[in-house]
Amino acid sequence: MQLAAVILAAGKGTRMKSKLPKVLHKLCGRPIIDYVLDAVLAAGIEKVIVVTGYGAPEVARVLGDRAGTALQAEQLGTAHALQQVYPYIKGFPGRLLVLCGDTPLISPHTFTDLVKQHIALGASATMLTTEIPDPGGYGRVIRDEQGRVVRIVEQKDATAEELLIREVNTGIYCFDVAGLFESLAEILPANAQKEYYLTDVIGLYVRRGLVVGAVTADFRETMGINDRRQLAAVEAVMRRQVLDDLMDSGVTVIDPASTFVDRQVRIGQDTVVYPFTFVEGKTVIGEDCVIGPGARLVNARIGNNVTIQHSIITDSEINDGASVGPFACIRPETVIGRGVRVGNFVEVKKSVIGNNSKVPHLSYVGDATIGENVNIGAGTITCNYDGENKWPTRIGDGAFVGSNTNLVAPVEVGPGAIIGAGSTITKDVPAGALGVERARQSVIPNWAAKKKKR
Ligand code: UD1
Ligand code: CA
Repeated sequence: MQLAAVILAAGKGTRMKSKLPKVLHKLCGRPIIDYVLDAVLAAGIEKVIVVTGYGAPEVARVLGDRAGTALQAEQLGTAHALQQVYPYIKGFPGRLLVLCGDTPLISPHTFTDLVKQHIALGASATMLTTEIPDPGGYGRVIRDEQGRVVRIVEQKDATAEELLIREVNTGIYCFDVAGLFESLAEILPANAQKEYYLTDVIGLYVRRGLVVGAVTADFRETMGINDRRQLAAVEAVMRRQVLDDLMDSGVTVIDPASTFVDRQVRIGQDTVVYPFTFVEGKTVIGEDCVIGPGARLVNARIGNNVTIQHSIITDSEINDGASVGPFACIRPETVIGRGVRVGNFVEVKKSVIGNNSKVPHLSYVGDATIGENVNIGAGTITCNYDGENKWPTRIGDGAFVGSNTNLVAPVEVGPGAIIGAGSTITKDVPAGALGVERARQSVIPNWAAKKKKR
């Protein structure tokens, strides 16, 4: 059986009140359209065409080579949108699945079921409908006394009585290609919105005596996004699904209501995620970690047995057994080695910290390469920026940097070297040497008493 799919995504999404095309708004970290496309591809449909219009270049960029596109230069309605794929579909001998780019919770099984039923019924068109408690905004399904579908009426065109109907059109249909485009050409914009409605095809087919099927779906799968309230409502459903999947795979989520994990994130078994934690982008977390409370991880790669508390980690790697925080900020391109301790109020940027080293308190480490088993004393900072350029700092294995040291880059501290507390190091310190830069301390006995007398 030949099957192609069309995703309608040309609309601006006026009700979103946004500069961004509706289908590019993000849900659990990915554009809305990605979920729809994933579901279509997972159903094994190879020929997929997305109708683009508002923000077409941006939408096409997100789609990449996963789908073809057809441009709808002016958004005159869903029937007009579907007409734009005619050059790509004409002569196609099979069936066409049509869906909207703003219905991201849909599952691949629902598509395959719809197509199966369409074939079993010998229908010319089969639509997916659903019953919802609050049908506001959707097209209502009008049936006759025998329960046969008669037509679809849009919210804005419905009578008070029709508005009470809770069975709605999901915007997902299966059509025989034969005859479809001829029928689309007959649709007129005779409605409140002056648009060419794809939904009118249903009434047209029924009047002609063609077989029109209706298959019902679970409304939680067919929630559409027209405004930002619906965006938040769908996000809540999807977020819970992501957390449920994680819990099913052996991750403890202490409080799903206050935990936010993007769809693409991977988390290993027996990791515990504490509240107020955000795990975003392509983050991967290993097993037996403790993440949060209060962590934000963006595109982070976290090994096993890692602890992260009240900290932010962006585009960086934290290896097995390391601990970060509380209150650390790990900025992009950082690699934290195995068993490292990055403590409170520490910022690390574009640096490598070798295995088992410690940066326990109040430090800034930027553009630095730190070896293994190094101790960086409290308050130590790398002065990596001279106002024009960024310079590197290198610290060898086993070095001990005393508290409150300024390392003025470019500078190198050799393996096993020791830096006296409070030094401002501007010259390289060789392996095993002591580097100290400090004014000699004066001690004047009985100074306090003399001062009082004066
Ligand atoms: C549509 C259906 C409605 C259904 C609902 C399900 C019509 C007339 N109405 O209403 O019966 O209950 O979906 O969610 O079809 N689009 C274009 N070009 C256009 C207009 C729209 O590509 O000219 C795209 C949009 O980008 C969107 C989809 O078609 O992805 C649906 O359009 P939208 O305006 O959201 O329709 P609804 O009012 O939700
Ligand atoms: Ca919609």
